[in-house]
Amino acid sequence: MRPVLGIETSCDDSSAAVVTEEGLLLSCVLAGQAEVHGPYGGVVPELASRAHLERLPSVVEGALAEAGTPLSAIGSVAVSSGPGLLGSLLVGLSYAKSLAWSLGIPVVGVNHIEAHLRSPWMEHPSLPYPALGLVVSGGHSHLFWCPGPDGPQLAAATRDDAAGEALDKVAKFLGLPYPGGPVIDRLSPRGNPRAFDLPLPRMSGGNGLDFSFSGLKTAALHRIREGGLVPAPAEDLDALPAWEYDLMASFQKRVVDHLLGRLKKAALRYRPASLVLAGGVACNRLLRERFKRLAEDLGLAAGLPSPRLCTDNAAMVAFRALDLLRKGPPAGYGLDATAVARWPGAR
Ligand code: KG4
Ligand code: ZN
Repeated sequence: MRPVLGIETSCDDSSAAVVTEEGLLLSCVLAGQAEVHGPYGGVVPELASRAHLERLPSVVEGALAEAGTPLSAIGSVAVSSGPGLLGSLLVGLSYAKSLAWSLGIPVVGVNHIEAHLRSPWMEHPSLPYPALGLVVSGGHSHLFWCPGPDGPQLAAATRDDAAGEALDKVAKFLGLPYPGGPVIDRLSPRGNPRAFDLPLPRMSGGNGLDFSFSGLKTAALHRIREGGLVPAPAEDLDALPAWEYDLMASFQKRVVDHLLGRLKKAALRYRPASLVLAGGVACNRLLRERFKRLAEDLGLAAGLPSPRLCTDNAAMVAFRALDLLRKGPPAGYGLDATAVARWPGAR
């Protein structure tokens, strides 16, 4: 099998990567859009599609050049086909299909969440299955039971906001720059995580493993209002009032408590061989540290990608395509984008 060119445009990152048949990452180039969406405090779908259109060609050229792989040596093109923003997905998909067609090579549609879920195996190929995989990002908070590389089953999902979305919204309320998750991560060590008493989410019904972040977010906003606190202009992030650092630390702690509380409960129920964590929120230092400790306490292997492979990237898309290519020939150039995805599961 010749190298796979991966393309990712499902949200607001344009990325391309080259991965060998053995799963070795030769290059991964990424063009983010924080400066495009920052002024709006969140992703504006129309602007995201346009930015992908403008940036994708040079991102692909950059990935091929960095890998030292000419286009003629590429054996297939892998692309995120969903879930995600439909307009953004279509830019990557149209590009990938035309490129593959013009080269006479297959195009492989990859489920974006399954690519996140598989990403820890890029750096930890011997991580044992079955695994419990938590994918946490700005758009998803999903927990999967993975008997093997294929056929993940949904064990839990968020009932409202995704974990990253909740972090970004609280950051926005404090007037912090977008995206707020990394800012909260950086500034939280200055605050007292016990200063604000925020309740752990509790929900009834279901299998007891689902997530919910909107109550926690509302509680944080209530505490601010009840205390008559007014966020300072975020001109100097290093000189904010102490209560803002306290709130960031308290909120971040509760998000991590909730995610890992559910993961522990699921681990005791499913008895996996390893725990894996992926998605943009998996860059969070507190979450990473406590995730590793949890796996160690439970005597399980821990699969945690390096931060650059946690956020949206094309390396995971190309890597996931290797599984699909090994199973048989891909569907063909009629491939379409899907905004939502569903999995079988015990929810
Ligand atoms: O996976 P990703 O790049 O894109 C989506 O598919 O959403 O994840 C982006 C999300 C954003 O909500 C961002 O705030 C969050 O991941 N994020 C973080 C950190 N880095 C990115 N959240 C907390 N701590 C971080 N260090
Ligand atoms: Zn993602």
